[in-house]
Amino acid sequence: MNPDRTPLIAGNWKLNKTIAEAEAFIQSLLPRVGAVEDVEIVICPPFLALAAMVDSARGSAVGVYAQTMHEEDAGAYTGEVSAPMLAEIDVAGVILGHSERRQLFGETDRALQLKLPRALEAGLKPILCVGETEEERERGDTERKLRHQVQEGLEKVPGERLPEVVIAYEPIWAIGTGLVAKPEQAQDACAFVRALVEGFDKGAAAKVRVLYGGSLKPENAAELLALPDVDGALVGGASTDPAAFAEIVEIARRVRSGAG
Ligand code: PGA
Repeated sequence: MNPDRTPLIAGNWKLNKTIAEAEAFIQSLLPRVGAVEDVEIVICPPFLALAAMVDSARGSAVGVYAQTMHEEDAGAYTGEVSAPMLAEIDVAGVILGHSERRQLFGETDRALQLKLPRALEAGLKPILCVGETEEERERGDTERKLRHQVQEGLEKVPGERLPEVVIAYEPIWAIGTGLVAKPEQAQDACAFVRALVEGFDKGAAAKVRVLYGGSLKPENAAELLALPDVDGALVGGASTDPAAFAEIVEIARRVRSGAG
């Protein structure tokens, strides 16, 4: 963690929580993180709970992001949700290119290339997810994969808006598996992602936040968040429990004050 970049802890709930369950979560989380200012906190509920979470989190330290969006504003795209629709209800950002979207729902680099600038234009902060499969790592193809995904994803983002993009490095073999990346693997990959941003714009690379994601939980958060190129975390499983999520936020605060 670098004290010049505000750490971001984002919870990706995936297909979990009804509106009632989301409401119970936020009522339990808010008193735990009420006074936090030095860490940015984000929850990413399913679409149907977004409006309720925006209302309940209003004025608090917790931001509300969506888990995906379509690249077009409107049209014949059954089942999709667009950037202006999310912005209209005060959603603050959106996860783009999560590996589950890529693998299970056919999301392509080409579509992501359109989604990033579209999200920014609509006032949504994008979290672009990148990461290699187990086979790609074993073949020594991790950097090739990351280069491809980062370059494709950022291609159409105007240079002056690059610092607003967050990139989450999520090795696919670590997502939901309990297998967490070794600190040197996470550091190397996050530093490599930052170097790729530098290829677009040197100034932006120092500002862009790179998150680690994949089986991050309170027990392993401190050593991952302490890495120099890791600016926070995208948390899946552990983010659905308010106590565990608040603990990760607290660990990020401690790491930041130690790093500062
Ligand atoms: P996990 O998920 O923390 O459950 O591994 C991370 C993610 O998919 O963002």
